[in-house]
Amino acid sequence: MKELVVNLNTGLHGELSVPGDKSISHRSVILSSISKGTSHIHHFLASDDCISTINAFRKMGVRIDLAGDELTVEGVGLDGLSKPDTKLDMGNSGTTTRLLSGLLAAQKFTTNLIGDDSLSKRPMKRVSQPLSVMGTRIETTDGHLPMTINPGHIKAVKYELPMASAQVKSAIILAALNSNEDSVVIEPQVTRNHTETMLNQFGDDVIERHGDEIIVHHQPELTAQDINVPGDISSAAFFLVAATLVPNSHIILKNVGINPTRTGILDVLIQMGANIKILNQTNGSEPAADIEVTYTPELKPIDVNEERIPLMIDELPLVALLESRANGHSTITGAEELRFKETDRIKTVVEEFQKIGIQIEELPNGFSIDGSKDWQVVNASLDSHGDHRIGMTLAVSALLLDTDVQMNGEDAISISYPQFFAHLKHLSD
Ligand code: S3P
Repeated sequence: MKELVVNLNTGLHGELSVPGDKSISHRSVILSSISKGTSHIHHFLASDDCISTINAFRKMGVRIDLAGDELTVEGVGLDGLSKPDTKLDMGNSGTTTRLLSGLLAAQKFTTNLIGDDSLSKRPMKRVSQPLSVMGTRIETTDGHLPMTINPGHIKAVKYELPMASAQVKSAIILAALNSNEDSVVIEPQVTRNHTETMLNQFGDDVIERHGDEIIVHHQPELTAQDINVPGDISSAAFFLVAATLVPNSHIILKNVGINPTRTGILDVLIQMGANIKILNQTNGSEPAADIEVTYTPELKPIDVNEERIPLMIDELPLVALLESRANGHSTITGAEELRFKETDRIKTVVEEFQKIGIQIEELPNGFSIDGSKDWQVVNASLDSHGDHRIGMTLAVSALLLDTDVQMNGEDAISISYPQFFAHLKHLSD
């Protein structure tokens, strides 16, 4: 049980470099492991989820050294992975599980994947189904982990994703690299494109995009690279929102990734009237910038619907928090995918927010929220439910309270942001 900091009346101040992007860090391990040569990855996110990915590749014979946030990977090439002598433990990581399913579908050996309780409740048919169409036999446990992947000869597909999911898209792309013909993946809405961007760095024109069609060309070889991982906008988001909401705050977050497939939270903040400035933008393969945030006393309520959801999928608990402080009523809809995250985030957000007096109701696919600055705590015992992003959202919410509150399950935060409380302290001192 952790005592949370409440009522920071001096506000948040100073500069902060948030840890590396989680999605990009996972992909950097995966692609450097299956390329030829030694890759160096800078500002790698050494969090529990990314360590699950590293451990899986180490078990398949890849030499990986991690020193602080510097990672060195001795790639073994597209055909060089070896059969692990145990089951591969995916921990809590949906990204590891789904991306590796695609890659393992095309190996010469069978693998067994297991995960923790939360991961074992998350849907895996969304990857086993398209990978079966491509020629793999995947045995799930009622659509969940544990899962056995019996690889096959990979056939090209034209696959229309039934849901907007970068993990499922990436699984199909990683399998399709091994087919002799081009595959096409069609997404219903644009989702994060880090797999496509990084593949085009490790190989030549591996991916082409035409409208909503992503074309994957067969790749005989990928070559080792130097990768600079930008700060994770999904981690920066906790402080973007905290500094917007906590009186007297003024912070600068350095070198945050602003790939347009991830910046929905910035659009929401700006549309609500928050004081946000984008500074010193760099335009590498993954664009980045410093983001300056100043406390904003009045926020306009806005309705967020389906179209924009994938661009801020992991930030929706924070969007709900912003709306909870806004001047009026708002809704978030088209977000049923939140039910399939580390927890059912529609349920856990509503349950925890109601404890601190937020007027929020569950919708089948989102939230209905009455914004107010007058929250009366009804239950001071909060719970992350073992979900890192719920834990951090609650820690930010607590900054706005006058009553002491505690949180259970704060250790889940190390899934994506082990330094979160140290960084909060740095900005509050
Ligand atoms: C991720 C994709 C998203 C996101 C997750 C990371 C990725 O999941 O929620 O945190 O790295 O591809 P879905 O593909 O399930 O939407």
